[in-house]
Amino acid sequence: MTKEFPNVQLIDHPLIQHKLTIMRDKNTATQDFRNLIREVSIIMGYEVLRDLPLEDVEIDTPLEKMTGKMLAGKKMCIVPILRAGTGFLDGLLQLVPSARVGHIGLYRDPETLIPVEYYMKMPEDLANRQVIVVDPMLATGHSAVAAVERIKDCDATDIKFMCLIAAPEGLKTFHEAHPDVTVYTAAIDRQLNDHGYILPGIGDAGDRIFGTK
Ligand code: URA
Repeated sequence: MTKEFPNVQLIDHPLIQHKLTIMRDKNTATQDFRNLIREVSIIMGYEVLRDLPLEDVEIDTPLEKMTGKMLAGKKMCIVPILRAGTGFLDGLLQLVPSARVGHIGLYRDPETLIPVEYYMKMPEDLANRQVIVVDPMLATGHSAVAAVERIKDCDATDIKFMCLIAAPEGLKTFHEAHPDVTVYTAAIDRQLNDHGYILPGIGDAGDRIFGTK
């Protein structure tokens, strides 16, 4: 937890800070950016998934019997907010290959900055799953708030939100709407600009991942 922001976990491992600085640089190529966001999502994933429940299992080593620990099978669902959230998907699926994936598509109305839903497809049994909602940028917080509302409408109760960079404004808005959802972020940046972009930020995360600008 940070002092100013309740329910926020700052994951600022030196490897993440190093990779994030390369990602912030506007001269970093799309291919490198995409590799870096996958690498960062894996490192962040270790922390985000730290409380996964374990169960005892009996196994035979080459020398003797022992009781080991394995994941207790609490099912997981990763939900990228389209489209930039998919940048986190490969890395997290590498850690938990059996996870289900839900998608939610929201775009920001350029005038009002209010999120408009255009796509949503979730697994049926969200009530029994740990849900990790992912979007690299928690900017105004409006998309994140709306996405988590829709996911709660599907009966999910165990929800975490994972991003790369959060703005203080977005953290406040998100926490007011969803105080029960912990936000995991690699950085908390200074502020939003008039267009809802995070400063200093990385620019448009979708464009950086997909090379569309
Ligand atoms: N979305 C982005 O992709 N970047 C920002 O800085 C804010 C929202």
